[in-house]
Amino acid sequence: MNVEMIPMSENRAIGVASSKLILVGEHAVVHGQPAIALPFPLIKVESSVQEIEGPIRLESELYNGLLDEAPTQLSGIVQTIKETLICLRVPAENLLIQIHSTIPPGKGLGSSASVAIAIVRSLFHYTNTPYTNEQLLKLANIAETYAHGAPSGIDSITITSSSPVWYQKEASVDYIEPKGTFYFVVADTGMMADTKSSVANVKELLKTAPEKMYGAVERIGEITYQVREALEKSSKKVLGYLLNEAQHELELLGVSNEGLERLIQFARKEGALGAKLTGAGKGGCMIALAQNELHSKQLSEKLKQFGAQAVWPFVLKNEHIE
Ligand code: MEV
Repeated sequence: MNVEMIPMSENRAIGVASSKLILVGEHAVVHGQPAIALPFPLIKVESSVQEIEGPIRLESELYNGLLDEAPTQLSGIVQTIKETLICLRVPAENLLIQIHSTIPPGKGLGSSASVAIAIVRSLFHYTNTPYTNEQLLKLANIAETYAHGAPSGIDSITITSSSPVWYQKEASVDYIEPKGTFYFVVADTGMMADTKSSVANVKELLKTAPEKMYGAVERIGEITYQVREALEKSSKKVLGYLLNEAQHELELLGVSNEGLERLIQFARKEGALGAKLTGAGKGGCMIALAQNELHSKQLSEKLKQFGAQAVWPFVLKNEHIE
């Protein structure tokens, strides 16, 4: 039972959710393989709920207006809000929901799941109702299904976790305890990544060239097991090598693109131990493993100068990501 509540005043409450990164296993996870994802707290969504008179209003960078008149791209969020209010037995009126996000949307960083989770949390906090993680995930996944079509569920699970997640569909979630300290750099190509079409393209490829493509999916699964071992044994060079191998398989699955490969190759040339796309691909972000703290700072600077739209250096150590 999650009882953490942050009431701002009698009639205003907030809910916060951070971002996520897929370290390895994206796409393959949709087809039954395991994946490893990291909560990424450097960027977040905050949802604030307060009382107003009249129909529900939504205010965000994407849309300002009545909930019932929100554009179709927000249908999932609208549905999550309505279902949450039904679950809370609160009438769907007299609320202002304000969303502020530092997670760039469409970059494979879990923005849609974070928005949904922040909103659900804020509505539960507003009504001072305790909730379970299961309830939270169920309500957030309504929005995820609209956004991604057939999501594996990894984004929402990771966003509600404080440790690296080992996730496989239809298996219970496991948490990884990395040994030592890993310095990563995440860089944004500046191109939007459409998870829904990227997942659909892979599905189509699996139909047209099943042998080759299932081979790539299975190979990603094997790499994911090896990545877990590398994290638990603090084998940085092996981890870097495995990230490069995973990128190769993702290229076969057709989810990489020129913008990603430009940044990935640059990071490797600048001494990254390994680099790959993260998330849905076809744009969005890449993740590189730096040699050490100093190298992660230098690599971040160089990636910025090379034209990355945004760069986030971050540290993974034990259960905590800084
Ligand atoms: C998106 O973060 C990861 C994908 O594997 C889709 C999913 O698992 O739902 C591309």
